[in-house]
Amino acid sequence: MDVLVVGGHGRVGIRLLRLLAARGHRARGLIRKPEEAADLEAAGAVPVIGDLEAEPSLEPYVKGADAVVFAAGAGPGSGPERKRTVDLGGAVKLTDAAAALGVRRYLMVSSIGADRPESATGPMRAYLEAKAEADRYLAASGLDYTILRPGSLTDDPGTGRVRLTTELGGTGRVPRDDVAAVLAELLAAPHTAGVTAELFSGDVPVAEAVRALGRATP
Ligand SMILES: NC(=O)c1ccc[n+]([C@@H]2O[C@H](COP(=O)([O-])OP(=O)(O)OC[C@H]3O[C@@H](n4cnc5c(N)ncnc54)[C@H](OP(=O)(O)O)[C@@H]3O)[C@@H](O)[C@H]2O)c1
Repeated sequence: MDVLVVGGHGRVGIRLLRLLAARGHRARGLIRKPEEAADLEAAGAVPVIGDLEAEPSLEPYVKGADAVVFAAGAGPGSGPERKRTVDLGGAVKLTDAAAALGVRRYLMVSSIGADRPESATGPMRAYLEAKAEADRYLAASGLDYTILRPGSLTDDPGTGRVRLTTELGGTGRVPRDDVAAVLAELLAAPHTAGVTAELFSGDVPVAEAVRALGRATP
């Protein structure tokens, strides 16, 4: 599979690229700083240089992909304007490019709280509004999307065990290692198309949690 990860040098993005390359996929990472290319190559990935905000269309990068993953973000130090141009605008451009080229599989790294941005204050509110709008745009696109909403991300080592649930409104933390592991598993799980799920640390092995996702629970 050829997978384009947007936000390829992000802390989730590079972990995902490493996992995908190890599984034999062509793992391409979109980055805007050429000096980060060597880190992607060391992860077994193919660096693709491009700026989400500056490029009018992401079609040239998406071309040839079997699936795309949005893992970029303006980051906590950014103001409301960049939440609109990266967290919303970048995700929308990726949706448009995937739809135009018929690349049906799209994984969105969203966030807990995107189901209720109005309950947040300060910079979190602009962030969650951007995430919510990006998620709505993707869900309306007709693509085979899965929206993953992790809790607070940590750099703790992954445990391979998670809580993945379509019940929204939770709180908690999850290591970036485990977010990447869930994303890699979702790419091989077409039954999760159309699903929005929250992700936290938990006790269910990643493969089992993804297998159960979207299925009716008793
Ligand atoms: N932090 C949390 O607790 C939390 C919780 C839930 C969800 N999330 C979401 O999880 C995702 C992954 O988080 P993370 O911690 O891995 O993020 P991260 O390490 O901050 O990585 C984000 C990446 O996006 C890239 N980016 C920003 N603007 C760009 C542009 N114009 N063109 C190309 N790339 C650009 C950044 O590259 P540059 O270095 O070039 O800017 C960076 O590599 C994000 O969508 C985040 O919003 C985060």
